[in-house]
Amino acid sequence: MIKPHQKHSLWLAALVHRVSGIGLALFLPFHFYVLGLALNDTATLDTFLRWTEHPMLKVAEFGLVLFLALHLFGGLRLLALEFLPWNPAQKTFAALAAALSVFIALLFLLKAI
Ligand code: HEM
Repeated sequence: MIKPHQKHSLWLAALVHRVSGIGLALFLPFHFYVLGLALNDTATLDTFLRWTEHPMLKVAEFGLVLFLALHLFGGLRLLALEFLPWNPAQKTFAALAAALSVFIALLFLLKAI
C-alpha cells in the first residue's frame, strides 16, 4: 500500500539517494579488495581483469557510474537545500540531477563499448 507522502516526487529523490548511497557503500569494500590483489595476488588480479572485459560487466559499470552520479548530484542538491537560501524549484533541480546523471552514465557506457 503506497502511503500519501510516497507519492511526492521528492520522496522518490530521497529513495534514489538512499539506495545509491547503500549501493556505493556495498561496492567499496569489494573494490578495495580487488585493488589489494595488486599487492599480494597479481595472478588472481589478472584473471579478474580479464573477466571484467565481459560485456555484461560494462552494463554493471554503467549502473555503478549511474549510482555515483545520482548520489553526487542528488547530494549536492541536498547540501544546497541545507545551506543556501530556499528555492522553490526543488523538483526541477532533482529532475536536472537525474537527467545529468543518466547523461554521464550513458556517455561512460558509449565510451566503454
Ligand atoms: C560523491 C560525493 C557525495 C556526496 C556529495 C554525498 C552527499 C550525501 C548527502 C548530502 C547525504 C545526506 C542525505 C540526507 O540528508 O538525506 C548523503 C547520505 C549518504 N551517503 Fe553520500 N555523498 C557522496 C558520496 C558517497 C559515497 C561514495 C557513499 C558510499 C560509500 C555514500 C553513501 C551514503 C549513504 C549510505 C548515505 C545515507 C543515505 C540515507 O540515509 O538516506 N555517499 N550523501
